[in-house]
Amino acid sequence: MYSGIKLFAGSSHPVLAQEISNFLDVPLSGRDIIKFPNENLFIQLHESVRAQDVFLIQTMCPPLSDNILELLIAIDCLRRDSAGRITVVMPYMAYARSDKKDQPRVPITARLLADLIQTAGADRYITVDLHAGQIQGFFTIPGDELTSFHLLNEYFLSKRLDNTVIVTADLGFAKKGRNFAAKLQMPMAFVEKRRTGNDATSEALTVIGDVDRKNVIIVDDEISTAGSMKNTIEAVKEYGANDVYVSCTHPVFAPPAIERLKALPIKELVTTNTIPIPPDKLMPSVTVLSVGPLLGEVIRRVHEGRSVGELFNE
Ligand code: R5P
Repeated sequence: MYSGIKLFAGSSHPVLAQEISNFLDVPLSGRDIIKFPNENLFIQLHESVRAQDVFLIQTMCPPLSDNILELLIAIDCLRRDSAGRITVVMPYMAYARSDKKDQPRVPITARLLADLIQTAGADRYITVDLHAGQIQGFFTIPGDELTSFHLLNEYFLSKRLDNTVIVTADLGFAKKGRNFAAKLQMPMAFVEKRRTGNDATSEALTVIGDVDRKNVIIVDDEISTAGSMKNTIEAVKEYGANDVYVSCTHPVFAPPAIERLKALPIKELVTTNTIPIPPDKLMPSVTVLSVGPLLGEVIRRVHEGRSVGELFNE
């Protein structure tokens, strides 16, 4: 069907791209990415991709707009070189919180982003833990939304924590939190959170459930400014929690997240490398699990036309 497999990476996350390449034993194909003095981006492939099954790895981290445009230009470049199929591998999809018109005169940027990716020429996408599963519906091309859930879950299972409660920082995350708790066979509590504006501020209100004299694992999809996490930790502490563990898929760590996290009583923050964490943001309490093998295995299955769902039952 395709004459071979090719892996390309944008410039957003070279370490993860290399991990995927090592896992698959497929080298990253060469390309030039140049930013001209007028800030126009230019991409040139070092080799032909005609009729190949191409996987393009690019996550959406800072410099965010540049990385998104780089992704779109790379897709266009691959399409114009007659790639047989182009699969975008975007471990973190930005703008995913802009998924509905919940106030007057606002955009739905996640939909716009999906449209742009498709219009550029992507045939499929692979991503990890979208902010809301419904965002899949913004794409008309097929895709695989993976979860880091098993990875994080296994890690916490291996820690054998006792007297521990799973806490969600957001009622919107309750269902995923419940699955997390079920796997670990732990009870649950919820923090009711209310956003107070568009400026990334939020306030935690009440804790629903019992955390008194218990360890807690607070689970969320991402930590951006850590405002939600700060409120959640303060709330569970006020309700008597002992050790606080934090688990999230995407370490967005936008300012002032690091200052906030450093000041919080967190025993361990467990996250993944869907987004690179620069060395100056790596705190001793942070454990980073790699999604490289997961993405690599899914790329292999997509290429071979094998079930991805079965991977999670094996
Ligand atoms: C929100 O709905 C998400 O689940 C996260 O709680 C949120 O993105 C975290 O944002 P921040 O760290 O800025 O409070």
